[in-house]
Amino acid sequence: MLFRLFVLLALCGAASACDAFPNNTQATFNWWQCYESSITYYKTTPEDASGKFEYPIVLSKPLIVEADVDNHGKTYSQLSLSIRLWEWNNVFGCGWNEINTFGLLSNLDACTHGVPCPIKPGRQTLKLTIDFSKFQAIIGLLKNNAPYQIQLTLADKQSSDKTCVIAQGRALTH
Ligand SMILES: *[C@@H]1O[C@H](CO)[C@@H](O)[C@H](O)[C@H]1NC(C)=O
Repeated sequence: MLFRLFVLLALCGAASACDAFPNNTQATFNWWQCYESSITYYKTTPEDASGKFEYPIVLSKPLIVEADVDNHGKTYSQLSLSIRLWEWNNVFGCGWNEINTFGLLSNLDACTHGVPCPIKPGRQTLKLTIDFSKFQAIIGLLKNNAPYQIQLTLADKQSSDKTCVIAQGRALTH
């Protein structure tokens, strides 16, 4: 009995010591570039289909990510896109738990999954369309109005060039 009470108190303590929305994701969209690459990101902005800033992000509709980038590499016309997703665990400690997407979001053909190909050299604005509504099997399982972390990796099929960004934000899933 005493032990149970102790476990309960410990769990409550852990939950309250941990932010419901880490890194201020309640109000702000956080992002960063994973590593140096031939594409440099200056800014990324989540938008709805009409080009208006969207926050929280709505995953049940196509999401536009407007990215201010500089491509100091070549013209990329054959790219693969891989997406990893994490949900925030604030019950048992605080941390990001990767969501199993059953390989559905790995090695997608980027040019038919929302990336405007070809990506030419130079400073430019890219509008990436991420349409999770096509992956209802995954989105349907996600908690509504919760913090998520997403990693997007673009890989050139002809060379070993890769580029990656991570974003964290509050998302509505239905
Ligand atoms: C918060 O954001 C920074 C980058 O701004 C990142 O390095 C850090 O891992 C993030 N913390 C969590 C808990 O996600």
